[in-house]
Amino acid sequence: MSGVKDVSPGRGERGRARCRGGMTLSDILPTLAHSLHPAPDRRLWPDVDDRRLRWIAATFGTPTYVLDENEVRHQCRRFREVLSGFRVAFASKALSCKAVVRWVGEEGLWLDVCSAGELAVARAAGFPDERILFHGNAKTPEDLKAAHGVGRIVVDSVDELERIADARVLLRVLPRVAADTHPALATGDTGQKFGLGEADLVRALEIVDARPDLELVGLHCHIGSQIRHVATYEQAARRMVALIARLGRPVRELDLGGGFAVPYTSGEDEFDLVGYADRVTRAVRYECARQRVAVPRLVVEPGRSIVAKAGVTLYRVTSVKHPFVAVDGGMSDNARPALYGARYQPRLLRSGPMARWTLVGRHCEAGDVIAEVDLPRDVHPGDVVAVPVTGAYHHSLASNYNQVCRPALVGVRDGTTRVLVRAETEEDLLRRDVG
Ligand SMILES: Cc1ncc(COP(=O)(O)O)c(C=O)c1O
Repeated sequence: MSGVKDVSPGRGERGRARCRGGMTLSDILPTLAHSLHPAPDRRLWPDVDDRRLRWIAATFGTPTYVLDENEVRHQCRRFREVLSGFRVAFASKALSCKAVVRWVGEEGLWLDVCSAGELAVARAAGFPDERILFHGNAKTPEDLKAAHGVGRIVVDSVDELERIADARVLLRVLPRVAADTHPALATGDTGQKFGLGEADLVRALEIVDARPDLELVGLHCHIGSQIRHVATYEQAARRMVALIARLGRPVRELDLGGGFAVPYTSGEDEFDLVGYADRVTRAVRYECARQRVAVPRLVVEPGRSIVAKAGVTLYRVTSVKHPFVAVDGGMSDNARPALYGARYQPRLLRSGPMARWTLVGRHCEAGDVIAEVDLPRDVHPGDVVAVPVTGAYHHSLASNYNQVCRPALVGVRDGTTRVLVRAETEEDLLRRDVG
């Protein structure tokens, strides 16, 4: 089904039992309203109302990933506006599908891909090759063949450089910055598999100098993901400028990677993007002046912060065994709790007096837990649960564990709803199993 005009109502339809004069019982008794249905934290939810979410669950089934196009476009514009002096490239590993690639392309962003598959999606969406950066710490010969013609290749090893022909390249290095994030998301300190070490950097420069078909346009680093503090980026930026000065050659572009944190629960802060723009730009200018090197063009590669908030995952409750509420998805559509101990703030799409529950998935792993959360006391099978901030690294990290089919990705924009990626079927699973 595609391009469905939905019949969802306007916003804020909660508290339906209306009294005379348009007042509801919850309007009259706000505390009662809160305990029946606490107001969702707007920093975590896109502007898609509950009635539409319920309609999507009923129409497209569950689990389903919902993605708000307006929110994705809004984040693209915010990055371009706040980081107006920077080039902004969307890291498509966060959510790779043709529609999203098209939206970010229309919003004027570049695109970061890290496999022939992500590149194929970009090309199928008509994204211009010249605005694509090709990444990867272990690019295969097939990746490199496919990457021919893209705007930039970010080189991660000497072996890879020897196999690249006719390309504009950036050299990825480790800035040796300890990122303030989960260890599995830190990528910029010593001991990491990413980037060129000192000796390899020297060798890479020799190769580039000897090869007229390779043009060195810059340096790259990425300190990790879900980074909360601007100071971590400032430190990386200073280290990168010091490295540029040591190289003693002009570097036109300095790519500082992505990693900007987003809040997953109400207690977490927004990343200070305005502070980043100001402090990182000043740090780079100051260090360049001090080291007497030209100020390079700055590049960032946000992934999560472009798409995370736009996404909501819809599940249906399948069983209730106090204290557990089990739903029809889990670690196959959301690997983050198992990978990073991530937690969420889901809601049931109806109200009632609340109790504390453990929301769990359907998979055969004790770690398949989505959240400890307040849900109505009388939660029962068939209820729809909505999990916010699931636009990044959910669809793109999904698996077929337990031979569970991957959910559809359904896009919403203003009054329309359409399937962007259809749900997988058992037929899809069996088609590959040719044994
Ligand atoms: C090289 C590179 N750039 C950008 C990103 C995007 O990071 P995030 O989604 O946290 O912004 C990643 C994520 O791992 C990455 O490896």
